[in-house]
Amino acid sequence: MSKLFVVGIGPGSEDYLTFKAKKIVDSVEVLIGSRRALELFSETTGEKIELDPKNMEKGFGHAISEVRKGKSVALLSTGDPGFSGILKPVLDLSGNLDVEVVPGISSIQLCAAKLEISWDEANLVTLHGKGVSSQLLEALENDKPTMVLPNFNVKEVAEFLLDNSIDPQREVAICERLSYPDERMVKTTLLDVLNENFSYMCVMVIF
Ligand SMILES: C[S@@+](CC[C@H](N)C(=O)[O-])C[C@H]1O[C@@H](n2cnc3c(N)ncnc32)[C@H](O)[C@@H]1O
Repeated sequence: MSKLFVVGIGPGSEDYLTFKAKKIVDSVEVLIGSRRALELFSETTGEKIELDPKNMEKGFGHAISEVRKGKSVALLSTGDPGFSGILKPVLDLSGNLDVEVVPGISSIQLCAAKLEISWDEANLVTLHGKGVSSQLLEALENDKPTMVLPNFNVKEVAEFLLDNSIDPQREVAICERLSYPDERMVKTTLLDVLNENFSYMCVMVIF
């Protein structure tokens, strides 16, 4: 059956993969995703195509043309496809194609769980593909924790906030490589973020 599945695979570990995602991946003819996404499905027999992080549109276009040829295709998204994920760009390109979105556990959700935050009471901000902006400063104006996906660089976020007169002693948590064996959670201050190195794969929470 020709169909495009946009499948959330969670934050990385297979512990956070849903049965639904696994069932769909096992059923499709073509699987397209980042290297770390494909690694979760090493036993799956369908054709596998790795997305080029520098040219995701090419991979999306390929997925769409395979579906138009009559194939079933799963495009893998880390976390949830609808939070700072591939859902929007894929829908922008897919026209009248039959699409099904399968939710996944977002890095934001796992971060909230680890830090015991009710995320309906948090500000959620993504800087991915956008960089730091006044949107972040506006979010900090209320008393809620602000959960941020940085644009690959936590220090850049800290520098921006310090340059904009946010208290250097403001409490911050960095949740790095969530669900992986080397997962790390650091509670620190905004100023001290400048003294540590963090992976690009992290969620920053400003309290
Ligand atoms: C393009 S966004 C995709 C977000 C994804 N759709 C989600 O719901 O988590 C990629 C960013 O998500 C965050 N991220 C993804 N996986 C993560 C993990 N395992 N641990 C911490 N942050 C993660 C990082 O900030 C990473 O740079």
